[in-house]
Amino acid sequence: MENNQTPKDDKTYNLMGSEVVDGFVCKPKVLDPEKPIMHFKTQIFLCHDERCKKAHKTDLLSDDLRDILKEVNLARGENRIKISRTGCFGACRFRSVANLYENTRVNGHPKNNNLWLRNIHKYSKEKWIELFQALAENKDIDDLVDFKQIPLSEIKEYPNG
Ligand code: FES
Repeated sequence: MENNQTPKDDKTYNLMGSEVVDGFVCKPKVLDPEKPIMHFKTQIFLCHDERCKKAHKTDLLSDDLRDILKEVNLARGENRIKISRTGCFGACRFRSVANLYENTRVNGHPKNNNLWLRNIHKYSKEKWIELFQALAENKDIDDLVDFKQIPLSEIKEYPNG
C-alpha cells in the first residue's frame, strides 16, 4: 500500500487520505467503521493457496502487481484495479489461477466479468501491464490470445441430483 508523506506536517497518509498510525503504512489513526472502501473498476483475485503459490517465483506477487499498478496509474481513479489474494478456487490444474471481476454496478466492463486466467505465474511484467491496460481500456480479454483462460463447463454438464 502506498503511503504519502506531506512535507508540510511530516504526517503519513494512506491512499484514502487518512492519517496513519506511526510505523504503519495504512492503519488509520481514527477509525471510521462506515468509511467506504475505495472505488475499483476491476478486481483481480489471485489464488494464493498451496499449489498456485508454489508455482509463483515469489511470495510477493500481489505486492509486485500493486507496484506495477502505481507505475501505470491504475492504482487509483475511475479505472482503478484492485488486487486481492484468495484461497484455492478448486482449479489447481490450471495453476496459477486468477479471477477477473468487473464492478458492473458502477463502470466495470461486463464482457470481462468472471473471466478465469490460467498459468499467470508465467506472466512477465510486460504481460501484466498489457493485461492491466486492456482492462482499463475495456478491451475484450476474450479477443486477446495472449491471455489463456480456464474453460467453464455448461450447467447441463453437472445436473443436480
Ligand atoms: S491452489 Fe490455486 S486453484 Fe487450487
